Amino acid sequence: GKVAVLLGGWSAEREISLISGGEVLKALQAAGVDAHGIDAGRDVLEVLKAGGFDRVFNMLHGRGGEDGVIQGALELIGLPCTGSGVLGSAVSMDKLMTKRLWRGAGLPTPDYQVLDGDTDWVVVASGLGLPLIVKPALEGSSIGMSKVETVGDLPEAYARAAACGGPVFAERWVTGTEYTAAILEGEPLPLIRLETPRAFYDYEAKYKAETTRYHVPCGLEAAVEQRFQSLALQAFEAVGARGWGRVDLMVDRVGVPWLIEVNTVPGMTDHSLVPMAARAAGLDFQALVLRILAGTLA
Ligand code: DAL
Ligand code: MG
Repeated sequence: GKVAVLLGGWSAEREISLISGGEVLKALQAAGVDAHGIDAGRDVLEVLKAGGFDRVFNMLHGRGGEDGVIQGALELIGLPCTGSGVLGSAVSMDKLMTKRLWRGAGLPTPDYQVLDGDTDWVVVASGLGLPLIVKPALEGSSIGMSKVETVGDLPEAYARAAACGGPVFAERWVTGTEYTAAILEGEPLPLIRLETPRAFYDYEAKYKAETTRYHVPCGLEAAVEQRFQSLALQAFEAVGARGWGRVDLMVDRVGVPWLIEVNTVPGMTDHSLVPMAARAAGLDFQALVLRILAGTLA
C-alpha cells in the first residue's frame, strides 16, 4: 500500500521533524516502499484522503503530532498510524501527567513542583534544593528548559518555559548520569549512556554539539542494565504508550534510577538515539524503519 510519512508540522520541533521524516522517507523508498513525504499542515486529513494513502508513518514531533491530536484524527478516518494511540501520546507529551501517573504506579521520578505567576521562588528552591531544572510540560527536544543555580534565576527560567505555552514545573536536579532506553515492538533495546560537557543534554547537545558522547554498550553491569531496561518498559506501559518510543532516565551517584520522560515519536536524525540503539542490537536504519512501519498492522 501507499505510505504517507508525516513530517514538519507546526510545533517548535518542526525543524527536527523535517530531518527525522526525511531520513525515514529515504529509507522506506530505498526499501521499495511506495512512500511519500507530507509536510503536515492543518489540512493534513484532506491531503491524506486525496492522496489515497493506506498507512501513515508519523514522524511529527511535539504538539499536534505527538500528543494524540493527529492519532485521534487518523483513527477517526480509519488510517493506521505508527506508534502510540491517543492516550499514550497525550500523556507522554505532558511531562507533568507522566510524572503523576508514574508516582501513582509507584515508579521513581524526581520530585517536582508546578510553577505559576504566584509561585514563591524561595519555597520552591528550598523544597527541591538547588540546582533544579525548570521545564515546560508540553515541549520536546529540551526547548524552554533551564538549569537554575540560584533563587534569583528562577523568574527568568519560569518566563522562558511559560513562553512555550502550557504548564511549567520545577524538578529536582539529579546529579548523575543520563541514559536512554529505546523501545521497539514493546521490547527495550540496549541502553545508551549520554555524556555532555554542557549543563545538561539540551537542544545544542542533542543536535549540534560535536562534544556529546554516546556510549553503547552503556558500561553498566548486564544485570543492572536489564533492571533499568525493564523499569523503562514499565514506565512506557504505565503511560499507555505502545509500539516504539524512548524512555529517558537519570541514574544518581548511588546508582538509583529516576525516570524523566517518554517520547512517543523520538528523533530519527543521524544524531538520534533510537537508530543508535537499534544498530547496537544489529538492526540497521532501514530494518528499524520497516519494523516500526510493520507495527501499524499489529
Ligand atoms: N523530542 C525529540 C525529537 C526526541 O525525543 O528525540
Ligand atoms: Mg521529549
